Amino acid sequence: MSKKLVAFFSASGTTKKVAEMIAEEAKADLLEIEPKVPYTKADLNWMDKKSRSSVEMNDKKYRPEIVKKEIDTDSYDEILLGFPIWWYVAPTIINTFLEAHDFSGKKIVLFATSGGSGFGNTVKELQPSAPDAVITEGRLLNRGTKQEIREWVKSL
Ligand SMILES: Cc1cc2nc3c(=O)[nH]c(=O)nc-3n(C[C@H](O)[C@H](O)[C@H](O)COP(=O)(O)O)c2cc1C
Repeated sequence: MSKKLVAFFSASGTTKKVAEMIAEEAKADLLEIEPKVPYTKADLNWMDKKSRSSVEMNDKKYRPEIVKKEIDTDSYDEILLGFPIWWYVAPTIINTFLEAHDFSGKKIVLFATSGGSGFGNTVKELQPSAPDAVITEGRLLNRGTKQEIREWVKSL
């Protein structure tokens, strides 16, 4: 089996729980994508047009800063990349992450949690940030059950 990295961003813990279960199931390494400035509850208020997340997601060129972490990308064949869906796509902090490392030639499979929305244009919006990687839509894991995760990991 190829060596995998599970990298994830989670603002309120749901994706984190799923990512931990995936890493355990896939016997993969786990890496949290951490914003330099953590998101507060007020930052995440999508009803407020002026909240940090609303302002950031209104400008798709904006790149929220992340805590710098070294990744030996050469040691992984596949990256499972997870995040919550924000405004029908991946949060732009995922673009920051992809642009911070060299994922050339790597296979990147996406997973996400959401309130119900799918991936929408996520692949299209992430691809320019890792032009030489093969990014594919994986699965929405909203149930987050062990069985759902086991089935998905097996299918990879
Ligand atoms: C700013 C913001 C925007 C969101 N936009 C959507 C959306 O477009 N569609 C959806 O189904 N859920 C949306 N959600 C809900 C999250 O995707 C969902 O609660 C997710 O599981 C949170 O994951 P986390 O706890 O790992 O951050 C949004 C949440 C936030 C904070």
